[in-house]
Amino acid sequence: MIQFTVEDRTGERQPIAIPEGINLSLMEVLKASDYTILATCGGMALCATCHVQVVKGLDALPAPQDAELDMLDTLPDAEFDSRLACQIRIDDLVEGALFRIKSEEPL
Ligand code: FES
Repeated sequence: MIQFTVEDRTGERQPIAIPEGINLSLMEVLKASDYTILATCGGMALCATCHVQVVKGLDALPAPQDAELDMLDTLPDAEFDSRLACQIRIDDLVEGALFRIKSEEPL
């Protein structure tokens, strides 16, 4: 199992365990885990409604591609550790990470 932690918009943290070999993005896992993530673009790095902060484990992740960086640049509240959850693959590189949901709560 791959294990990591998600912090919701209220600061509540929940451990998540995903079987290895499942080809999902973090955005897909968050949605499947009942977090309110709009993901309007369906994971194309075009909407930024899957914005997360990688509080722990940032250095282990592959560097963001240009499309992700361009979209993060449009966010007024992006930080150095901001990423788009749809661009993060769930594999052993996210083991032990802590992701904080930053996108606004959908109305
Ligand atoms: S789902 Fe749209 S940018 Fe991630």
